Amino acid sequence: MHSYIDIRSLNELPKIEAISGIQTMRTIRWDSGTITTIDQTLLPVECRAIECKTVHTLCEAIVSLRIRGAPALGAAGGYGVALAAHTSAASTLREFMRDLEIESDRIRRTRPTAINLTWGVDRVMDAVRRAGSIDEARRIALFEATAIADEDVERNTRLSKHGRALFEDGDTVLTHCNAGRLACVDVGTALGVIRAAVDEGKEISVISCETRPLNQGSRLTVWELMQDKIPVTLIPDSAAGLMMRKGLIDKVIVGADRITRDAVFNKIGTYTHSVLAKEHKIPFYVAAPISTFDPTGLERDITIEERDPDELRRIHDVMLAPADAAVYNPAFDATPVENVTAVITEDGVVYPNESESWNDLFS
Ligand code: MRU
Repeated sequence: MHSYIDIRSLNELPKIEAISGIQTMRTIRWDSGTITTIDQTLLPVECRAIECKTVHTLCEAIVSLRIRGAPALGAAGGYGVALAAHTSAASTLREFMRDLEIESDRIRRTRPTAINLTWGVDRVMDAVRRAGSIDEARRIALFEATAIADEDVERNTRLSKHGRALFEDGDTVLTHCNAGRLACVDVGTALGVIRAAVDEGKEISVISCETRPLNQGSRLTVWELMQDKIPVTLIPDSAAGLMMRKGLIDKVIVGADRITRDAVFNKIGTYTHSVLAKEHKIPFYVAAPISTFDPTGLERDITIEERDPDELRRIHDVMLAPADAAVYNPAFDATPVENVTAVITEDGVVYPNESESWNDLFS
């Protein structure tokens, strides 16, 4: 069971100092053996945090998208290993490591497409393997998990500054899903770039696609941008083509859940926007930290997460389709890199169609 803490807005979360010295609020954090995270399924009606005191509750929170978004999942994976270390009752280092392997596997399996989750788990597990005692392993696990969370804030801040130069005063920018603070430890990727451009004095308006079926666009992106007082208009996913054809969109920016050499995996619907953007000669940007890059995989190797058919058939008790309707409900799609104008990372802007610098990122 999760226990709930009330918070009224994102800005009411406790401020924590990140490694770069930036005062910041966090979507997910560790506090004395507890992972505290905003329950994103309740937004925009309620902004509440939940406490996960066991790996089981954390896994439930990940599967049900209480915590979601690639970089936030990276932090959840890291803290998840720290939680497994904190709660293991093993009396020998060998048994303790076996507990950690089992729990890490459970965490990794919750969402197969988002590479940051596995990356976060693996990074902490690799560090823990150096420990000579259970106490040392617990200390290392928490230290490494905290480093992942701190670095996420710092890297997304750098990424946002690199990306803002691509946007001009007066731009109307379409985004899909939520690649904001809620999807990261703080700052955001795609929304971080938009916020950084606004902070520079540029007037940017955002078109947020609702992002069916779980509505991360309407529930989270619109809410987050309204908190920041950045002009945002909600559209149905299917209105993107009409708006592009009418010349109402200047640029598209999205986040990513995994980037292979040949494709960008992001929320279902992203590929459709990329095809439309290409047709209408609109720049299509992806903002993602290096932790989202998959150095070895190609599009054909990657499992696309399929979710519960009921996400399409019903909203709570209201039926949207016959109860036994056949359903295909993929959570993500793959956009070929040929459709991507540039990828914005913490180390700078890379152009996938300039193969040398692109290939360097995977070597
Ligand atoms: O299923 P979700 O809500 O976890 O999907 C999230 C996305 O697709 C985001 O666009 C992506 O994680 C980038 S977040 C900075």
